[in-house]
Amino acid sequence: MSTPEPDLSSKLRQSLRAQRRALSLHEQRQHSEALCQRLVRTRHYRNSRHIACYLANDGEIDPMPLIEHAWLMNKTVYLPVLSPLQNKLYFAPYYENSSMRLNRFNIPEPDCAPSQWKTARQLDLLLLPLVAFDAQGNRMGMGGGFYDRSLAYLRHRQYWHKPYLLGLAHELQKVEKLEVQSWDIPLNGIVTERQCY
Ligand SMILES: Nc1ncnc2c1ncn2[C@@H]1O[C@H](COP(=O)(O)OP(=O)(O)OP(=O)(O)O)[C@@H](O)[C@H]1O
Ligand SMILES: [Mg+2]
Repeated sequence: MSTPEPDLSSKLRQSLRAQRRALSLHEQRQHSEALCQRLVRTRHYRNSRHIACYLANDGEIDPMPLIEHAWLMNKTVYLPVLSPLQNKLYFAPYYENSSMRLNRFNIPEPDCAPSQWKTARQLDLLLLPLVAFDAQGNRMGMGGGFYDRSLAYLRHRQYWHKPYLLGLAHELQKVEKLEVQSWDIPLNGIVTERQCY
């Protein structure tokens, strides 16, 4: 009798999500501070005015110190919003006093008019959460394909295109090699609490 092939990538996704959720509050805070200190020194951050980020969820490394730094530097920070009509992300400006609403995945989004949303290509820098990455810049997300769909236009780029894509992660999310699908959009780099790739 044949047993179904175990889905290796969904096992990997589950295991890495559990590992990042298991980090203590202290470790989470240390990683977040170290990551943000490294990130603010990068040329890509310093040269960017329009920066999209995310609010940490499910043990993701927390970019909040970076968001606060960006506000101080008068950069515009954006958070992803799920378009209700397409399965794609837009990016809404996020300020200290933004009112928020929950999307269909219970993730908070800035509550502002769609006319204020930007598309990915209008951003200078996009900081993405991830579940796993490898040193070649391949990324595994939560499995929804939302970032991949929203960035699909980059697959056919002939020359440089915005935004610069940086994945943010705990070092423990690094794997030897990720299996890549045709729709996966690779990152320009990854920053962890320990180093830049
Ligand atoms: N450009 C695209 N067009 C249509 N469907 C897509 C596209 N990109 C991804 N998808 C769909 O999304 C599904 C999930 O993709 P994948 O497993 O790569 O998600 P992910 O990279 O983990 O998630 P995310 O991009 O949200 O972080 C795939 O099964 C694929 O069918
Ligand atoms: Mg993908």
